[in-house]
Amino acid sequence: MLQHWSRAIAHIWGLEGSLTQLDGEYDLNFSVATPTEQFVLKVMRPGCEQAFVDMQCLSLEHLHQQSLSAQVPVPQVITTLEGQNFTVYHDPRGKPRIVWLVSKFEGLNYAHFQPKSGVLIHQLGSYMGHMSAQLESFNHAYLKRDFKWNLMQSGWIEAELGCIENLERKEIITSIVEQFKALETDLNNLPQQCIHNDVNDYNILVQGSLNQAPHISGIIDLGDMCLAPRVCDLAIAGAYIVLDQAQPEQALAQLVAGVHSSAPLTAMEVALVWPLLRMRLAVSVVNSTLMALDNPDDPYITISQGPAWAFLQNHRMSGGLIEARLRFACGLPLNTAAKPTLAWLSEHSGAFFPLLGADIDLNQAPMVDLSVEGSSIPQDPFSIQPHEAQQLINPNLQLALGYYLEPRLVYTGKAFKNGSWPSSNRRTVHLGLDIFAPAGTALHAPLAATVEAIDNRQANLDYGGVVILRHRSPRGDEFYSLYGHLNPSSVTQLKVGQELSAGDVFAHLGEPSHNGGWDPHVHVQLALSIEGMGYDWPGAVDPDDMNLWQSVCPNPSLLLNLDHDVTQYSPPSKDHAQQVRQDHFGQNLKLSYAEPVMFLRGWRHYLFDEWGRPYLDAYNNVPHVGHAHPRVAQVAAEQLVRINTNSRYLHPSRSAFAEQVLSHMPSELSVCYFVNSGSEANELALRLARAHTGAKQIITPQHGYFGNTTGTVDISAYKFASPKARAGGLSQPDWVHLVDVADDYRGQYRRDDKAAGELYAQQVAQHIATLKTNGEQLAGFIAETFPSVGGQIVPPPDYLQHVYKHVRSAGGLCIADEVQTGLGRLGDFYFGFEQQQVVPDVVVLGKPIGNGHPIGVVVTRPAIAASFAHGPEFFSTFGGSNLSCVVGTEVLRIVEDEQLMNNAQDMGKLLFAGLRKLQREHACIGDVRGFGLFVGVDLISDPDSRKPATQIADYVKNRMCEERILMGSEGPDDNVLKIRPPLTIGAEDVNHLLHMLDKVMHEVKVLTA
Ligand SMILES: Cc1ncc(COP(=O)(O)O)c(C=O)c1O
Repeated sequence: MLQHWSRAIAHIWGLEGSLTQLDGEYDLNFSVATPTEQFVLKVMRPGCEQAFVDMQCLSLEHLHQQSLSAQVPVPQVITTLEGQNFTVYHDPRGKPRIVWLVSKFEGLNYAHFQPKSGVLIHQLGSYMGHMSAQLESFNHAYLKRDFKWNLMQSGWIEAELGCIENLERKEIITSIVEQFKALETDLNNLPQQCIHNDVNDYNILVQGSLNQAPHISGIIDLGDMCLAPRVCDLAIAGAYIVLDQAQPEQALAQLVAGVHSSAPLTAMEVALVWPLLRMRLAVSVVNSTLMALDNPDDPYITISQGPAWAFLQNHRMSGGLIEARLRFACGLPLNTAAKPTLAWLSEHSGAFFPLLGADIDLNQAPMVDLSVEGSSIPQDPFSIQPHEAQQLINPNLQLALGYYLEPRLVYTGKAFKNGSWPSSNRRTVHLGLDIFAPAGTALHAPLAATVEAIDNRQANLDYGGVVILRHRSPRGDEFYSLYGHLNPSSVTQLKVGQELSAGDVFAHLGEPSHNGGWDPHVHVQLALSIEGMGYDWPGAVDPDDMNLWQSVCPNPSLLLNLDHDVTQYSPPSKDHAQQVRQDHFGQNLKLSYAEPVMFLRGWRHYLFDEWGRPYLDAYNNVPHVGHAHPRVAQVAAEQLVRINTNSRYLHPSRSAFAEQVLSHMPSELSVCYFVNSGSEANELALRLARAHTGAKQIITPQHGYFGNTTGTVDISAYKFASPKARAGGLSQPDWVHLVDVADDYRGQYRRDDKAAGELYAQQVAQHIATLKTNGEQLAGFIAETFPSVGGQIVPPPDYLQHVYKHVRSAGGLCIADEVQTGLGRLGDFYFGFEQQQVVPDVVVLGKPIGNGHPIGVVVTRPAIAASFAHGPEFFSTFGGSNLSCVVGTEVLRIVEDEQLMNNAQDMGKLLFAGLRKLQREHACIGDVRGFGLFVGVDLISDPDSRKPATQIADYVKNRMCEERILMGSEGPDDNVLKIRPPLTIGAEDVNHLLHMLDKVMHEVKVLTA
């Protein structure tokens, strides 16, 4: 058959090319590749009307002619050698078929493309806007045919609803049809024009790669064109766009905003998008249900309905709120009353009756800061405690105000969470204004009102008593105000419909026992419309939706005669922080991630940005026992108010810390030195080695990192051998000798070589031999037990045994840097050297031991300490301060008390099992290695050569950050994903990480295909 159609394209278009058959429901489609170009050959079904093809060809021609202002990527018709758009050719069975040829676009179906970002959807919308503007001037007789997919004719499904057996589903479709019928007059009043009518996810092509932002490369298949209002086109595209989105309403808003950017929509059209979108889905499911009845043996028909049914059944979003969102996306006012109402409120602000009575001037009340940055309430941002909720502000304050639009972590109830993971999005931004005043304080109506609703919401952390008042501006526009946390018995005295005059007392502030459990205050909120939300107003909203909600619920300061600017929260400026950094910080201090993040709070293995958005921290090892651990904070605070002095005085905290550290060490290591950092500890380790051996020569692995001081940079190949070393005035000192990292995945000796450990260690022996020949003496060997910046490497299990044997026989010391691997992170081992079954001469501990407080510790054998003691005094002013000692001791105790080493072991198992599963599914995962919560995922672009996939690692790390999960990348080629969370991480978090990593890895598959 392919040969037959190859001959056809040579005969009709004079083209030589190879053909591949493409999918097609009714017609035959072939991809045609010539040496220079690609086409699609369309062989229409037998009996296809010429007008049908003629309509498509002329519309494509029209779009190409019209595209002066914007080129919509639609195919170009290739005319035959005789200059026709299409012709008739006989198929192998001798049947006449209409054939035509169009240019082919590169790209993948939108259905299969990942990621489907807001930017991509907006671009699609923008192309669709241009296309509808260009198609407005196109006409063709065939557009007027009767057509079941024309939304204007979609009422046919009403007579077919009997085919849906499931009652719940039937009810949903019935209500969609009812709503559609109610809108038919509006729809019929809209101008009709030619529309594409089928911008579905298989008719949109997308191109993108790791370094090219995804973009729409083609919109194809104009076979469903018809005459209808242009909004039908948008609604149909929307019906596909929403289906596999976690936040469909936001995706739809992007599409609508995109259309509006190139073909401004009217408010009427915006109002029709959601009902028409649902009607299109209804037509789809009714049509396929009927098809399934006709084709009972084709399970695919039923399966293909799945996403549409899932959407209709699971996303019962309020049409009113969707409309508000879509209007907002288009920059349209909330409704016709919004603007004049706000103008009237502004004009009269200052003259409304004072809410707390004529004697109380709220302008004199101080603002209290309950923000993510400004408040440490609640201590646990996942669970506010009753005593915290009941004492949000200083108890000495009689009157205080809480900000409008302030991001707060106090909303810890389930109802405030928008997803199922512990660090899913949550509603943090306060949409009202709080007035803190004693319980019992009377509230006076600020202006004439009708009682719209009263309620007693008794759940903990809800409103308790709540009242909604309806007001009317002189123009006749209605707006609403809400008052929460009231005394319920004062509220129940009100009647719905009751009229209030300005100044009338209508309620009193409640006690915590009745107001939801809060410090007595009233939450005041204004709403310009209650369309879609009824009486269930969100008092706090997701920061990503904050601007939208601001348009529905503006700052109630107007009603309270308060200054808008004083009462509206402004967060610490991320831009300012970045600018100061740019101007006044050394420029070789890197920021993590392409889009830098600002964190204002931490808790366990979570971080919170300036708007209270939670991030899962799977990267930071300094907060070993979790960010902001209360026990660490408490011992530090208590110590600071007692004494914090230096190690020249006796103090029990110092001996306690030493005993605590030594309790985990082999008994041979019994002398401690306390310093302030890993760098300082490694410096001291070098001095110990030199003092004990009288020698200076050091052997260390490639790509090691030991700190930022002169001495530690000298032994850190990661620094002195980096591409920028020369510019930084760095080079390898003549007393430093490098061996390969014992990397059994990509090094010269691999996992299948049982002697790999010994062979890598042999390089140490070789250096020692050379030193001997040169008359030099070895001071020691220093290595991170598991090289971290080297790529989260686990050396072969006997590696250090062999190395230490060689080093000791040459009189050198063996120094183990356990900064990254110590203190239980490995799950199975408290220290990395235990896994290698060696006892070092010097052990260096660093950052995790202080959980954020700067502490370094060096532990050694008494004989080595004795050699060092012959020299001048060793003293570090802050090292071993009382503060450091109590913090260090507490951190080690918490590891025990909370069984964090066990947790590292359990979570490590879960993580490794999940990562290994991903490895089987994603070819770019070359290796998964580590122990416990010290994990490396080595990404490759070729399984045979194991070529490092640096760009993929960069993509994954940044996308994971966009998904609010922090991980890093490491290794000489920066291709190893580094997962190294605080040891508190839980199973749900690990599953969250794995789920997102899988999603991002799928994107990688698409972007690298
Ligand atoms: C293995 C290792 N040693 C030493 C250091 C230096 O520690 P600090 O930054 O506390 O000086 C680091 C820091 O990243 C490290 O990872």
